[in-house]
Amino acid sequence: MAKPYYEFFCPVKIIAGHAALEHIPFELATLGAKRPLIITDKGVRTNGLLAPIEAAFITAEVEIGAIFDEVPPDSSLDTVRLAAALYREHQCDALIAVGGGSVIDTAKATNILVTEGGDDLLKYSGAHNLPKPLKPFFVIPTTSGTGSEVTMVAVVSDPEKSVKIAFASYYLMPHAAILDPRMTMTLPPHLTAMTAMDAMTHAIEAYTCMAANPLSDAYATAAIKKVSQNLFKVLDNPKDHEARLELAQASTMAGIAFSNSMVGLVHSLGHALGAVAHLPHGLCMNLFLPYVLEYNQEINGQKIADLLLPLAGSEIYAQTPASERAEKTIDTLYKIRNQLYARTKLPRTLSETGKVQETQFDEIAEKALNDGSIIYNPKEASLEQLKKILQKAW
Ligand SMILES: [Fe+2]
Repeated sequence: MAKPYYEFFCPVKIIAGHAALEHIPFELATLGAKRPLIITDKGVRTNGLLAPIEAAFITAEVEIGAIFDEVPPDSSLDTVRLAAALYREHQCDALIAVGGGSVIDTAKATNILVTEGGDDLLKYSGAHNLPKPLKPFFVIPTTSGTGSEVTMVAVVSDPEKSVKIAFASYYLMPHAAILDPRMTMTLPPHLTAMTAMDAMTHAIEAYTCMAANPLSDAYATAAIKKVSQNLFKVLDNPKDHEARLELAQASTMAGIAFSNSMVGLVHSLGHALGAVAHLPHGLCMNLFLPYVLEYNQEINGQKIADLLLPLAGSEIYAQTPASERAEKTIDTLYKIRNQLYARTKLPRTLSETGKVQETQFDEIAEKALNDGSIIYNPKEASLEQLKKILQKAW
């Protein structure tokens, strides 16, 4: 793991602010695109989130070629084929994803088909199997959590074989991510909370796991500060434009951090729990975050201690003796989870979800042990140790 060098890469242009959407037609035109296909889901459309985007095109020479709003929560190869067919039917020349993780992944995969031609997505699966750059592709996230707008990965399910197909290539990274607070304004409190805890986990794991580097550290600590300073402001006042924009930026910054330095055991356990109990990813992050930090503390307590400053602020950091800062970081996360539970009923423990049985622990632990993220965790974990963490998180 300890390589004698590191790499940091993010070619995604970030366009962020209260009038960011209005800038999209110009940005498309600079890439030579004139007819983007919008890929989204029914929820985004019925919530009226497309309206300001469509309005941005009214006076522009660039026009929306078509809108595909059929993306389900767990996107499949068929969905991607349908989106690609619509793109071709309307002679589109660019893609705009408007949505959360599933929409963004669908759009990334669609971009493979419309660039490469044909309908066989599987031959491009795996790592670095794309031969050339793809069509102009913009992402407008409608949640502040996944960070997919700045990652090179897409996951799409193959329902026939009941497996998830992963694609990883630098060419999958969007040309631009547009962060506009109008896009997250209607996100309900519990979704705001769980997606923010996904962003928080991306940043914390990016900073505390094995592949951290000075550049990802900078993004990670800044993201943690933004989440901790703005999440409760948004829950107090969901229409707080400033705080919504801060959360959106935090999510993207955390995405840039972890796409360059990977995540760790919280994600291994979270992926496993998500697969076994079908719980949302952000909730899974919230369930494991403090317990995994406690597990890792003996190995990387100093890094966990560093995070007290962005997480709790300068006063608490200064008041806490250096030897107690790691503990205090973890304690602060417990407090945040308690507040989120009080405000949004976001479960803190496996039992509070009401959807997990202790008899599933073996299966969850085994899946977590085989999850790719585990290799970046600073402390190794055996099956027995994973089961102990699950027991604590119960
Ligand atoms: Fe995540």
